[in-house]
Amino acid sequence: MNFISKTIGTAVGICIILLGTNAAFAAGDAENGKKIFKKCKGCHQIGDGAKNSVGPVLTGVVGRKAGTFPGYSYGKSMRQATKTGLVWSEENLDGWLTSPKKFLRKVLDTRKAKAKMRFKLKKPGQRQDVIAYLKTFSTDAQAATMPMKTETGGMAKPAKAISTTDICVENQSGKTLLFVVEAKGGKRVVKTLKASENLCAPQAMADAGGTVGVFQDADALEGCSRLAKAGKAERLISYVPFDNCGWVQ
Ligand code: HEC
Repeated sequence: MNFISKTIGTAVGICIILLGTNAAFAAGDAENGKKIFKKCKGCHQIGDGAKNSVGPVLTGVVGRKAGTFPGYSYGKSMRQATKTGLVWSEENLDGWLTSPKKFLRKVLDTRKAKAKMRFKLKKPGQRQDVIAYLKTFSTDAQAATMPMKTETGGMAKPAKAISTTDICVENQSGKTLLFVVEAKGGKRVVKTLKASENLCAPQAMADAGGTVGVFQDADALEGCSRLAKAGKAERLISYVPFDNCGWVQ
């Protein structure tokens, strides 16, 4: 084999490995991930009433912008990563859990980057499973399978199915905030939502979409907003003004 064909051979090999890991993400076992999460529990809380401790709250972390959970003091490199717009996709979480420091060095393209998290999950299978577990706190699947607690301590029924022509926003941030839903060619509605409440506006034109926004209160000058598709709620999972909110669909 000459040099060129060797190089091509290696390149093809790498591609196959990458494809392999991507396909494997879907196969993560959330039940097993829950067991593996015990390793994280010394530093991280997740779920109802979770608070920041050694590490930030991980509720809703999949799909969240890195380094943005309110009230947690992130390391310098992580704050820089936030500025680059880094989002915790499954792939990025896999990189982070493999080696937080190496991951930030790659993202920031400097060997000086440091991570406050001194912990690695070396086994790819364990990373996949724990990511699958994290996802159960970040996606619609959670709302469908877990009954939501209401203010009175009773159980609320899962939110009713959203009409395919509605633009909706759901408050999963745990705070009471002011929400705005603007459907193109439809209605603009403004309402203060408590935790787990949602707000929808019907749109007049099919597929027109709209925007949803959130503010601390009616006097706030800066909040967050984002484009929204009809028929799926945009869920706010963390509120940080100047468009640093965490959202999932
Ligand atoms: C020894 C403590 C410790 C352990 C164990 C630990 N972490 Fe962390 N984690 C941290 C710290 C500290 C940070 C903040 C990193 C920074 O600011 O540089 C963090 C950050 C994170 C973040 C980024 C969150 C964000 O808001 O951007 C994720 C995701 C994460 N950890 C996942 C995990 C998972 C999953 C496990 C278990 C497999 C785990 N961690 C185990 C301490 C820990």
